[in-house]
Amino acid sequence: MVELGTGDASAVAGVVAGLPGLTVRSWDVDADSVSAARAVVAERGVADRYTVEHGDFFAGAAGSPARTVITNPPYLPAPDGDLELPGLWGGPDGNALLVRLLGGPWENVVAAVASYADPVGTLEAAADAGYRVTSFLAMPLELGRYSREPKVLDRIRDLVAADRGWADDDSYMVAVALFTRSPLLRVDRSAELAGALQLGVPALAA
Ligand SMILES: C[S@@+](CC[C@H](N)C(=O)[O-])C[C@H]1O[C@@H](n2cnc3c(N)ncnc32)[C@H](O)[C@@H]1O
Repeated sequence: MVELGTGDASAVAGVVAGLPGLTVRSWDVDADSVSAARAVVAERGVADRYTVEHGDFFAGAAGSPARTVITNPPYLPAPDGDLELPGLWGGPDGNALLVRLLGGPWENVVAAVASYADPVGTLEAAADAGYRVTSFLAMPLELGRYSREPKVLDRIRDLVAADRGWADDDSYMVAVALFTRSPLLRVDRSAELAGALQLGVPALAA
């Protein structure tokens, strides 16, 4: 498996620790995240199976034999990346890296999908690329400090007003979803995922 965006590695290090057959190669463009991640990976005793590299995922993972990508991709929508935490900038709609990933060669993409980051466009891109959503887990999250940065919140309001996403005054939804092209998994729960992300539910005041 390969990973786009290691962060501090704590989430995936636990998965690797619990699955002795699993090997993950991960990339992050942020040097501080890479240092923190390597420390967490060493502390969890999985450095032999969870490697962390400093650099762009799309360059590093090109040509990888891995069939599965896992990612909590940058998800903040904003007109530019001049943000408090630039590594969380997901392009104008918040889903640029996820959509790019879904345009790649991967059989399986396990990804976090934020309800305010144009999940409509994400689901369209996934369907166009032949992916089905076979399972997901969704939960509500508070709109936090980074989501409330004014130019991010303005963009979230625009996306919600254009029926491209959902948030209310306090919260939004995040789902971790499996997008797959595997012929063994025929079910498609895209519509259920859209429902779990509250698409179509009355939302954030303008
Ligand atoms: C939302 S954070 C997720 C971090 C961690 N996986 C987690 O769930 O806590 C996204 C991460 O992707 C990294 N990132 C952004 N663009 C990237 C790229 N092109 N290649 C690799 N990593 C990237 C950022 O630096 C950031 O650490």
